[in-house]
Formats: sequence, structure tokens, C-alpha cells
Amino acid sequence: MTSPTMTDAMTGPEMIALTKAHTIYEWSAQSKVDPIPVAGALGSWFWTPEGKRYLDFNSQLMCVNIGHGDARVIKAIQEQAATLAYANPFMATEPRARLGRKLAEIAPGDIDTFFFTNGGAEANENAVKLARQFTGRHKILARYRSYHGATGGAITLTGDPRRWAAEPGIAGVVHVADPYHGVQRGWDNVALALANLEEVIQLEGPQTIAAFFLEPVTGTNGILVPPDGYLQGIRELCTKYGIMMVADEVMSGFGRTGEWFAINHWGVVPDLLTMAKGLTSAYVPLGAVGMRRAIADHFKERVFYGGLTYNSHPLACAAALATLAVYEEDDLIAKAKRTGEVMKRLLGDLEARHEIVGATRSIGLFGIVELVRDRRTKEPLAPFNGTSEPMQKLGRFFREQGLYTFVRWNTFFTNPPLTISEDELRHGFAIIDRGLREIA
Ligand SMILES: Cc1ncc(COP(=O)(O)O)c(C=O)c1O
Repeated sequence: MTSPTMTDAMTGPEMIALTKAHTIYEWSAQSKVDPIPVAGALGSWFWTPEGKRYLDFNSQLMCVNIGHGDARVIKAIQEQAATLAYANPFMATEPRARLGRKLAEIAPGDIDTFFFTNGGAEANENAVKLARQFTGRHKILARYRSYHGATGGAITLTGDPRRWAAEPGIAGVVHVADPYHGVQRGWDNVALALANLEEVIQLEGPQTIAAFFLEPVTGTNGILVPPDGYLQGIRELCTKYGIMMVADEVMSGFGRTGEWFAINHWGVVPDLLTMAKGLTSAYVPLGAVGMRRAIADHFKERVFYGGLTYNSHPLACAAALATLAVYEEDDLIAKAKRTGEVMKRLLGDLEARHEIVGATRSIGLFGIVELVRDRRTKEPLAPFNGTSEPMQKLGRFFREQGLYTFVRWNTFFTNPPLTISEDELRHGFAIIDRGLREIA
């Protein structure tokens, strides 16, 4: 095999061999990774150099909400690169100015001020700083069934097993149980879940707790749509004890659930709101932490101790502005709600047709299927943090059939771009239906 020059397009096997030789794949033992080589993408589809097409049922990493290859966003990035690719964060730029104003328009309540980062983890890191500096307290509460990012603080906040290798992590983080206890035990009622949380607050000392971080609808840890009253109750407890409520909407924001932000479904205004992914639909990396007016005012006369070379990067801000315009021009938030109703029915059909479907959950185009060995006992088809032969077989089947989605433990996800057509959605569910028959 001769090595390709910069002008030759690589083949899929060449991409795989070279990326594996010289780069590290995340969260994996390197000999076990089996990447799909990607040459291009448009709408709900991407393809390999050899032309095998995949329906993207996970919007890559739950982030390409507006679909692939939108010409309006590409043009905005090209124009911004030609005008001003970079200015340091002490400068004022037009895309930064416009993006701050636009986000103030769409964020809930009086959240009207933003600090821009490179992605979701850094948004959470800076939310920790804001909460600690604002309250003068140090402890942070977060839940076990959560992912908040891979940087030092964010991975400590993370409750799922990705945290274990990073322990002990930063000081002062306390994990609390979720209202959901897995497919076998199911959900606590709201009163019990809130009583458990209040007990932890009392035991830790409310005057020591700066913030409670939570994904309003939990993402990778199960598309957990909370029962009505839960988020309102958390808001009340946080207000009662002077604790900042931090909504991590890195995955659930920007139309994924059929609202701009998931928390809007429950009419709750958090103190801090973190975002990334759908903010630019991943065309360029960008994250942000939004804060309520009182928090922004606090830093008028006090120093905010935080900074990043790429804070408010002009290219990323321009990409975000163009992406937000696409959501509005194409009415994608309302479309996600409508297509989400179709997806809910298709998930219900799977449950009716396949004994191994133990539960399905969705809100908008944020969906998951939990597989079980036995409907009656609801024993998961793979153990917590593990896999099994049938789950692996299902993953292989999806891949062979050209359906890309995340298969994790005993679950798989249905998180297509918000632009997906009903025909494409049905095509994806037809593959899922056949896959479930294969492993029954
Ligand atoms: C809820 C949530 N928070 C934070 C993050 C971290 O974002 P990033 O990978 O951009 O740092 C993620 C990533 O998946 C996420 O789902």
C-alpha cells in the first residue's frame, strides 16, 4: 500500500489504518475500536469513501441537530473565516455580540448573559466556578445517572462509570440517587425523590452547597424524562436553600426534545444553563454557560476568575448564529415535536411486537429502547456497564444494514437529526424491527 498524498483521497481502510496508527480513540482499548470511515454527509445520511451509506440515527454524538451539510451554515463559516477568523477574548467582535443577544432571546427566564467555551465539559467547569464564586460555598451535588464531560471537574460531577478512572477528582462533589433505578426497579414517585434529595442537602449542610447539576432529561444514561413535578420540586429546594440549580442541556438543548431547551417542558428557570452540541450542530466546536441576571450582576464589580484562548471564537459564534437561524427558518423545533409524536408511536409498536423490549422512552426526537431477557422479570439483556452477545449482534446488524446509532449496555438510542423525514424515520425503524427479530 503506497501512502496517500494530500491530494489523493484516502480509501476507508487507509483512513482506519492511519488513524489507528497515530491517534487515540476515546473511551476505548485501542485494539478493540472498529471505526466507520466517513467521507461525507448530507441531511440524515453519511457515507464511507467506498460509498456505503448510513442513516444517522444518533445525529453523530446527539449533536448534528440541523442535519449534515447545511449550505447556510457552511457559507457563514466560510465568510467569517475570510473576514476575521480569530480575535482574542478581550476583544469585542460582531459574531460574539450578536450571539449573546440571540441566546438571551431564546434562553428561559432572565438568563441573558453567556460565557463561551470550546464544548460542553468546559461549560460545566465554568458553571462550577460561577456557582462557587457567586455563593461562596464549595460543594456540588450531581446525580449518579449522569454525564457532564471528561475534564477534571466535569468528570467528577459525572455519575456514570466513566468517572471511576478519574477518581478521586475535584474536592466537594457529592452524588445523589436519581428518581429512576433501572428497568427492573423503575421510578420513585416525585415526593419520595424530593424527600431523598432534601435529606442529602440536610446531611451535607445546605450552607456548604453551591450548586446542584442535573440534565433535565438525562441523555446517555437513559433518556430519563422526569415525572411532572420533579424539576419544579428541585427548583423549590434549590431556592429554599440558596443552591444554584444548574441545568446541563449540552445534549437536551436546541430542539432535541421539541422545545428550545428541555427544561421549558416544565416551565422551570435554572440559575445556570450549560449548552454545546446543538448550539452549532457541531459544525464548529462551541459551548456556553448562560446565567440569570442576578449572577451576571454579581460579576459587575467582582472579577470572574475564568478564561480560555478560544473563548467567544468568532468562527464558532458565526456558526452558532447561522445554526440558530436554521432552527428558526425551517421551524425545526416544532418539526421535532411533530416528528417526535411519530417516533413515539414507532417506539410503542416495537414494544407491542417484541417481547425483548422492556421499556421505551422518548421526548421529541430524544429516544431510547431498553432490552430485557424476560418481560416478566425485566432482567436487562446486558448487565450494568457491560455488554452481551445479543447486544453485540444487534449492533453488528444495524451496521450491516446501514443504520448508525449508539448501542450501550442493554439499550440503544433513536436520536436522528431534527430534519429527518417521516420516510427516513420509518426506514430506520424497519431496520430496528428486523434486528430485534434476529436476536429474539
Ligand atoms: C449532558 C452532557 N453534558 C456534558 C457533555 C460534555 O460535552 P463535551 O463532550 O462537548 O465536552 C456531554 C457530552 O456528551 C453531555 O451529554
